Amino acid sequence: MIESKVNLLANLLSRIEDRTAVVGIIGLGYVGLPFAAEKGKSGFKVLGFDRNAWRVTSVNAGASYIKDVTTQDLYALVKKGLIEATTDLDRLDEVDMVIICVPTPLNKNLMPDLSFVEASTRAVARHLKPGQLICLESTTYPGTTDELMRPILEAGGLKAGVDFFIAHSPERVDPGNQRYTTRNTNKVVGASDPASREAAVAFYSQTILNVVEVSSARAAELTKVFENTFRAVNIALVNELTLLCDRMDLDVWEVLDAAFTKPFGIMPFYPGPGVGGHCIPLDPHYLEWKAREYNFNTRFIALAGEINRSMPEFVAQKTMRILSDRGLGLRGARILALGVAYKADLDDPRESPSAEVMRLLAGRGAELQYHDPHIPRFQEHGLDLRSRDLTTEELRRADLVLILTDHSQVDYARVVAEAKVVLDTRNATRAVPGPKPNLILL
Ligand SMILES: NC(=O)c1ccc[n+]([C@@H]2O[C@H](COP(=O)([O-])OP(=O)(O)OC[C@H]3O[C@@H](n4cnc5c(N)ncnc54)[C@H](O)[C@@H]3O)[C@@H](O)[C@H]2O)c1
Repeated sequence: MIESKVNLLANLLSRIEDRTAVVGIIGLGYVGLPFAAEKGKSGFKVLGFDRNAWRVTSVNAGASYIKDVTTQDLYALVKKGLIEATTDLDRLDEVDMVIICVPTPLNKNLMPDLSFVEASTRAVARHLKPGQLICLESTTYPGTTDELMRPILEAGGLKAGVDFFIAHSPERVDPGNQRYTTRNTNKVVGASDPASREAAVAFYSQTILNVVEVSSARAAELTKVFENTFRAVNIALVNELTLLCDRMDLDVWEVLDAAFTKPFGIMPFYPGPGVGGHCIPLDPHYLEWKAREYNFNTRFIALAGEINRSMPEFVAQKTMRILSDRGLGLRGARILALGVAYKADLDDPRESPSAEVMRLLAGRGAELQYHDPHIPRFQEHGLDLRSRDLTTEELRRADLVLILTDHSQVDYARVVAEAKVVLDTRNATRAVPGPKPNLILL
C-alpha cells in the first residue's frame, strides 16, 4: 500500500535535509555535469545517467570534459563515492530525485524537438516509485512539464502531487562565468501543486543561496524562455544599430559606450557577427511555436531572429568591401578567421555565427584558415580545417584577418601590428593603444 502523501513528502524532505536522498541526473552535458559536481560537493550522492558511453566512462574515471568542472574536483568526488555514472536507465529506481538535463533542440523546420525529454520521461516512468521528485531543467516552452511529462508519469497509476512530485527549474548556467556560479545564481522553481513545489524548493535550497518560487511549472518554463528572448531581442537591437551606423559612417562601439554611461534605464548589449550557442538562437522559437496554439504572433521574436540571422551575411559583405577597397576580390583572397567558438574563452562551437561567416566566405571562393586556442579542429559545412598557430608569418600572409570571437588569450596588439588589415566584429582590439589605420570595426 502507498504511504500517505504527508508521509511521502515528509520522508523526502527529511532525506533532503540530512542529504541522504540520492540524486539522479539524466544528461551529463554542459548543464548536467556541473549540477552533479555541485550536488556531490554538498554531500549528496549522485547517480548520473547518459546514453553517451564515452561521457559515462570519463565521469567514472574522474576526467572532466566540461570546462566549468575541474578534473581535480570530479576525480575527488568519484573517489569519495559521491558521483557515479551509468548508461543503464534501469538503475533509476535507486534514486530519490531525478533531474532531467537533456537537450531541447529545434528540428530542421524550427519546431521544438522534445524527443530527448520524452524518452527520458518514459524511462523515469518505467521506474517511478512513490515519493520520488522529478524535475525538468531543460529549457522548453510553457506546458512541457504538465502537458507532456506528467501524463506519461501518471500513466502507471501514481498521481503527481500525491504519490510523486514533479517540478520545473530552468538552468541558468552561463558557461565560463567565474562570478555567477550555480550557487550564487538565483534559481527559479515552479510546480503546479503545493507538495511538489515544497519538495523542489527544499531540494534546491540546500545548495543555492536564493530560490525564487513561482506558482506553476508553466510560469517557470516561461520565465526561462523570456530571459533568453530578452537577450535575443536586445542583441538584435544593437545589431540593427550597427547596420545603420555602417551606412551613416558612425562608429557603433563609440555610440554604445557613450550610451552605456547612463547610470539608469539602459543595460549593455553588444553587436557581433550573429548569435550562437545552444540557447539564444534556439529557445525563443520554443515560445514562438507555443504561442501559435493561442493564435498569437510573437513579433519581437521573429524580428530579432531575422536581424540576428542576417549578421553573418553583413560580415561577409563588409569583408568583400574591405578587400575590394584594396583592389582585391574575395575569390582566392586568404582570410584568417580568429575564433570559431560561439563565445569568448569557451571551447563550444555549437550554433557559432563564425561557422556561418566562414561558410559564406569559403563558398564565395576565399581561401580560409582559422585560429582558435580552444578548438583545434573545425569540421562543418564541408570545411575541415585545423587551427593554425598565430605566427607572424600566418598573420602577414593573410589578405585580411577577421576577428569573429574575442578570446582573451589572443594578443590583439600583435594581430593589429602584423596583419595587413583587420576586420574586428567584436571590438576585441579595444585596448590596443595607438593609431590603428589597418583596423576596421564591425
Ligand atoms: N549549455 C548551456 O549553457 C545551457 C544553459 C542553460 C540551459 N541549457 C539547457 O539545458 C539543456 C541541456 O543542455 P546541455 O547544454 O547540457 O546539453 P548537452 O548536449 O551538453 O548534454 C545533454 C546530454 O544528455 C544526454 N542525453 C540525451 N538524451 C538522453 C537520454 N534519453 N538518456 C540519457 N542521456 C541522454 C546526451 O548524451 C548529452 O550528454 C537544454 O535544454 C539546454 O537548452 C543549456
